[in-house]
Amino acid sequence: MRVLIIGSGGREHALLWKIAQSPKVKEIFVAPGNAGMMNVAKLVPIPVDDLGGLRQFALEQQIDLTIVGPEVPLLQGIVDQFQEVGLSVFGPNGQAAQIEGSKRFAKDLMKKYDIPTAAYQVFTDADEAKQYVRQAGVPIVIKADGLAAGKGVVVAATLQEAEQAISEAMEQKVFGSAGDVVVVEEFLVGQELSLMAFIDGTTVVPMVPAQDHKPVFDGDLGPNTGGMGTYSPVPQFSNEVLSLSVQTILEPMVQAFQKEGINYRGVLYAGLMITKEGPKVIEFNARFGDPETQVVLPRLTSDLVEILIAVVEGRLHADLVTWSDEAAVCVILSAGGYPGPYQNGVPITGRIDQLDDRESVYHAGTRYEGSQLVSAGGRVLGVTALGENLQIAREKAYRLVEQIHFPNAHYRKDIAEKAIQYLAQIHI
Ligand code: AMP
Ligand code: GLY
Repeated sequence: MRVLIIGSGGREHALLWKIAQSPKVKEIFVAPGNAGMMNVAKLVPIPVDDLGGLRQFALEQQIDLTIVGPEVPLLQGIVDQFQEVGLSVFGPNGQAAQIEGSKRFAKDLMKKYDIPTAAYQVFTDADEAKQYVRQAGVPIVIKADGLAAGKGVVVAATLQEAEQAISEAMEQKVFGSAGDVVVVEEFLVGQELSLMAFIDGTTVVPMVPAQDHKPVFDGDLGPNTGGMGTYSPVPQFSNEVLSLSVQTILEPMVQAFQKEGINYRGVLYAGLMITKEGPKVIEFNARFGDPETQVVLPRLTSDLVEILIAVVEGRLHADLVTWSDEAAVCVILSAGGYPGPYQNGVPITGRIDQLDDRESVYHAGTRYEGSQLVSAGGRVLGVTALGENLQIAREKAYRLVEQIHFPNAHYRKDIAEKAIQYLAQIHI
């Protein structure tokens, strides 16, 4: 098979790493890709939002399967456009991807089908939204309806913060039209869990769970990022909690899509808060999570390409998806300053190659300047290790982190700490 992966981050590098292991695959292209992918795939300099260019490339190169990494092309309808010309493509169509593209759409669907999520109100008028938060009180959560590159959510601890968030989204238009509509949401208390599933329109097969670390600093302090690190499994949540999440959230969502006449094929990512009353949805994404994919795929023991094809062809089956008991930890090395302004083009040195078979360095934002690897993004590398358990995987990941260097590199030192603390507690 000839495979095309669309995207350029750590998620796509992890997808490439796993897809390259499939005996079905002969050649892999990535558009536009990054420096870490060059020895396994051919990089194609077409941006992810050039749908016409990508489609033409896939036709000319007789691509057998395309996998779409990021949300932007999904929402632009890349899957619809590829299918129109008979190309096989993994990901939800434009209508189905609205589950990520519009928070209002997602919330209304969950409400209609009784899927547990935070209580909410939708506003198209800033004064009405401010009036409402004054009544409802704080803490409260303000969300821009549309895509805002992970920056459209404010958890407001004070009324002033809440009103400022409403004003920025709706009056100052800092997210453009994505902030025309705002969802104001009840603040949920609990620990977060990322649960992704393969869905072929009717069948749901959950992946192993992961936990992300969104705030930039240790102890969950500082502004939110795209994700500073992940681990899997998440031992503080029992199998009962996971089954409940599948039964009350993922399966009802697939039924809801079917009832609404939406053909959802691809990955559905549920961002959950595990509250005292059970799992509740914080958000849905229409794609693999980043950096969740970097710890979930290393645990997949079956052939990812077979799963992807089964999803596209509507014949997904649980037997196709098997997992190892090993644990995985991914620590993101980011550019100093991220998620604010940061410097690109910083030289990266150290043990990026010569890894053992339990280590991976997934490139997120890198390129070559001549023969020198340099940074090219806020999140630069996802340093990942597998181990018999979380402690071992974590030690291995941090040992590797310490052997990789670039000026002003920043990383969180407490990835997987919540799990390690939980494990220490139950062993007392
Ligand atoms: P999102 O971009 O929707 O994933 O939101 C970013 C982060 O905001 C989440 O990872 C949560 O930490 C937090 N968050 C979002 N919605 C809520 C909520 N209703 N209650 C508490 N925290 C929330
Ligand atoms: N790690 C969160 C996301 O992929 O949206």
